[in-house]
Amino acid sequence: MARCGVASRRACEQLIVAGRVQVNGRTVRELGVKVDPDRDEVRVDGRVIRPPSKLLYYMLNKPAGYVTTVSDPQGRPTVMSLVPSEDRLYPVGRLDLDTEGLLLLTNDGPLAHRLTHPRYGVRKLYRAKVAGVVGAEAVARLEQGVLLEDGPTAPARVRVIRQDKETAVLEIELAEGRKRQVRRMCQAVGHPVLYLKRIGFGPLRLGRLPVGAYRPLTDAEVAALRRAAQLA
Ligand code: URA
Repeated sequence: MARCGVASRRACEQLIVAGRVQVNGRTVRELGVKVDPDRDEVRVDGRVIRPPSKLLYYMLNKPAGYVTTVSDPQGRPTVMSLVPSEDRLYPVGRLDLDTEGLLLLTNDGPLAHRLTHPRYGVRKLYRAKVAGVVGAEAVARLEQGVLLEDGPTAPARVRVIRQDKETAVLEIELAEGRKRQVRRMCQAVGHPVLYLKRIGFGPLRLGRLPVGAYRPLTDAEVAALRRAAQLA
């Protein structure tokens, strides 16, 4: 049916019945008219109405060496070059140049805002290879909060996944996303990060997506993200 793209179905019907909607220059009054948003020109009160752009959601496994900005004044490669799209996408939050892993890209501004704003507490899961033998005391400090130069960190979940002679692999789950937070937290407890990858974002997991590859999110994944961001 002819939806005018500016209002609810009921409001659109009222506009059509009132004779305020034109399709390709012809006023439509019947409610069942089909409109092709790519080919037909729809006007309301003489003003051209653009169909709302389709909301797009992708997951990328970001490689090291890419910046998570739309463009880079220093000319470094950006993650945008890895996800070609005619629509204007942008990354949801940041990963450091040298961090790999799960990065979301979307054109859904309200959802992106909530996914990154600390008020909504959407958790991000990192796997970090760190230097040294990580004792219970360091884990407890990371979990309870570490004092950084921009204030103490909020409680985190930390698990030692593997301990070798000189390095350890930790999983760290944070509900905030300050600049270089995982690196600074680990450094603060004496275990500098050697390698960092994000493996989870809210309810989503990176899984086996190869480094540098991307895929669209499923409808179920988008719905789960919206729930996590309290946008039911
Ligand atoms: N914490 C970091 O230190 N770096 C990132 O890229 C993400 C979280």
